[in-house]
Amino acid sequence: MDAAAAIRIRRADERDIGEIMIIEKMSFTSPWTVDFFRCELYNPVSFFYIIEVRKLLAGYILFWILKNEAHIANVAIHPDFRKRGYGEYLLRWAIERIRGKGVATITLEVNEKNNAARNLYDKMGFKIVGKKAKYYENNDNALILARFLE
Ligand SMILES: CC(C)(COP(=O)(O)OP(=O)(O)OC[C@H]1O[C@@H](n2cnc3c(N)ncnc32)[C@H](O)[C@@H]1OP(=O)(O)O)[C@@H](O)C(=O)NCCC(=O)NCCS
Repeated sequence: MDAAAAIRIRRADERDIGEIMIIEKMSFTSPWTVDFFRCELYNPVSFFYIIEVRKLLAGYILFWILKNEAHIANVAIHPDFRKRGYGEYLLRWAIERIRGKGVATITLEVNEKNNAARNLYDKMGFKIVGKKAKYYENNDNALILARFLE
């Protein structure tokens, strides 16, 4: 990551949805819809943040907190910004924010074939705790990962 680059993480808002949708469509074969993202802006259990690099929207993360459990529902980095440490930076930031809210466990689902994301989660201390067969529209399996916070 370019340490000198101005990085900012802030709450997502309505004006970000267009750019988020561009990244979403480049990142997933079954992207979330505009309406789904819009709803999440007002979902009381949702925490929806974007990462800006030199004022450009480089990615986003969305997680839910329910009692003492958090679930990372979506995370993506724009292809132009990938492999430069921003995904790790954003995830690390989110984990610290979740920890600060007294959460004990963070879960998520990841496509079994998504090596980039699997490596990232492995690096961040997530463990495989389950599997959902044919979870995705194309019948790919999902792995359920968990990170247990001390
Ligand atoms: C997964 C994703 C968020 C990673 O973001 P990123 O900014 O490129 O990741 P980083 O540069 O911070 O890399 C952090 C670690 O992730 C892993 N990683 C990232 N890209 C990788 C790749 N193409 N291949 C293998 N491992 C990769 C590595 O372990 C890397 O650590 P290292 O640099 O020490 O090797 C990004 O590839 C993405 O947006 N993918 C599409 C959306 C997606 O799959 N989201 C996850 C859904 S569960």
